[in-house]
Amino acid sequence: MSSQCVYSKWEKTNVLLHSAALREYIPATKLFGHENLLLMLTEYGMVYVKPVNGTFGKGVMRVEKLRSPSKGYKYQLNTTIRTFPTFELLHQSLVKKINGRRYLVQRGIDLLRHKKRRFDIRVMIQRNNNNHWEATGIIGRLAHPAKIVTNYHNGGTPMSFESLMSTHQSPTQKMVYAIRLKQISLDIAKELEKHYPGIKELGIDIAIDQQMRPWILEVNTKPDAFIFRKLEDKTIFRKIYQYAVSYGRYKKK
Ligand SMILES: Nc1ncnc2c1ncn2[C@@H]1O[C@H](COP(=O)(O)OP(=O)(O)O)[C@@H](O)[C@H]1O
Ligand SMILES: [Mg+2]
Repeated sequence: MSSQCVYSKWEKTNVLLHSAALREYIPATKLFGHENLLLMLTEYGMVYVKPVNGTFGKGVMRVEKLRSPSKGYKYQLNTTIRTFPTFELLHQSLVKKINGRRYLVQRGIDLLRHKKRRFDIRVMIQRNNNNHWEATGIIGRLAHPAKIVTNYHNGGTPMSFESLMSTHQSPTQKMVYAIRLKQISLDIAKELEKHYPGIKELGIDIAIDQQMRPWILEVNTKPDAFIFRKLEDKTIFRKIYQYAVSYGRYKKK
């Protein structure tokens, strides 16, 4: 494994927690286990359970504690929803799915929606030709209507930040907010490079909740450049691709 790729979401989360400034954007995250799951569900009502070493939204589950009159618990994996009358039955079922692998429990964020579908934001951070960090792209990803993940490789649709945020913010607010998300992402790059000096690019997954508060869901060290091809402004993808080629991520065609 090259020093440029860090796969463990647990390790990367703990690195970011070193920064007092970034800490407020990180949803509470613990390793999956009976006690942690119970604690987190009691505290937050809804959590995401996901593989420490996952990609493409694979194996990601949304777990909820139901409130009266129904009570009990439910979780969704892919498009399947299962409900349980007790915590013990829920836990047993999750343990079977997890099958001995390492998983995280993370506070669930109630994502903003566009036409009833959840979406989140991906910010691309790269070293530019002067070796400085630059926020080269921002894009939204709209979940498939029946799914709980927004990943492109899991039925999600990449769409411009501006169009997804239109029903939530004015044009000026959107501009200011995009700058804020890019700044948080640049701060993440600066924090991570202290621990992983070789990194050249990052893709930051950011959730926005109903109060418009941003949350860092995960940081990818091998971000997909090609989703940015979906944007109307072709100069964005061209730049991202050029930077990636310059440090050898893709072979020049
Ligand atoms: N804590 C969370 N709250 C709300 N949605 C989440 C949470 N964690 C993950 N998701 C959703 O699941 C997707 C995949 O999770 P992520 O942590 O990015 O793992 P992966 O490496 O599989 O992309 C996210 O893009 C987001 O749509
Ligand atoms: Mg992701």
